[in-house]
Amino acid sequence: MVLTDQEVNYFINTIRNTSSYDFSEYSEKSLKRRLQKILIDNNMDLVALINKLKTNKDFLEKIVKDITVNTTELFRDPQIWQTLRYRILPKFSGNRNINIWHAGCSTGQEVYSMMILLNEMGMLDKAKIFASDLNTDALEAAKKGIYKYRFNIGYLDNFDKVIKENPYNYDEYNDVSYDKYFKIDKVTDTIAINDFLKKKPIFRQHDLVQGGNLYFAKFDLILCRNVIIYFKYSLQNKVFKLFHDHLYTNGYLVLGMHETMLGEITSRFEKKGQAYRKK
Ligand SMILES: C[S@@+](CC[C@H](N)C(=O)[O-])C[C@H]1O[C@@H](n2cnc3c(N)ncnc32)[C@H](O)[C@@H]1O
Repeated sequence: MVLTDQEVNYFINTIRNTSSYDFSEYSEKSLKRRLQKILIDNNMDLVALINKLKTNKDFLEKIVKDITVNTTELFRDPQIWQTLRYRILPKFSGNRNINIWHAGCSTGQEVYSMMILLNEMGMLDKAKIFASDLNTDALEAAKKGIYKYRFNIGYLDNFDKVIKENPYNYDEYNDVSYDKYFKIDKVTDTIAINDFLKKKPIFRQHDLVQGGNLYFAKFDLILCRNVIIYFKYSLQNKVFKLFHDHLYTNGYLVLGMHETMLGEITSRFEKKGQAYRKK
């Protein structure tokens, strides 16, 4: 089933007119692909879908969740975690507190990666961890912190690269056991994050399109990775402005491997790879 741009706009307008969600500044390509999948999964045509969206609030909430892409990993893209470990986080080691916001945290793997890293660096106690996403199902999964094992076997490789090895000194090897942070159960096929990590983050629903700072805090570090890739340039810039407003001077914004800041806002940051320091 191939949808026209007009049909996608019809969907966007229906959502916008019947809820607080607004996908009008999401990139059309990914939105179209997701919407096509939703129609197939629900065995519906667009008109039937639109009619149900207008009359059934729970259905609308479900479709909004299905529109979002929630793919994530523990220590996704290990290079950026190595940069955080050896280049960025040490700058905050002398601070009394460090406030970190994971914007678009999905099912929580990024949040737990950060806490594991902070713990290894002796900085976890002084950290306040805030994590938000649009998708409340993803947030519930994040709070549970239980992931499939076999499907996610790559997590262990990522963990080794970031926690055990030092890319700047191959002689160094930290023999940290996985058990310290999560329990692997091959029978139930699960990786379960240990309780002491699950207690710490403040998970909240937050829509980056609406803006605003739901935590009423300023941040030393904001991670927003693999989220703005689904946004049009105009929305990307709004979100960068939001992050700029809520970062301390010298605080860092970290984007995903395939995301870049463009335009006038770049003059307010110093770019270092995927990390942007607020001037
Ligand atoms: C691909 S995941 C990225 C997860 C993690 N940051 C990572 O890099 O592995 C993108 C997440 O952005 C969330 N998202 C999409 N639109 C959003 C919005 N307007 N406000 C907040 N989160 C949003 C999705 O629900 C999804 O969980």
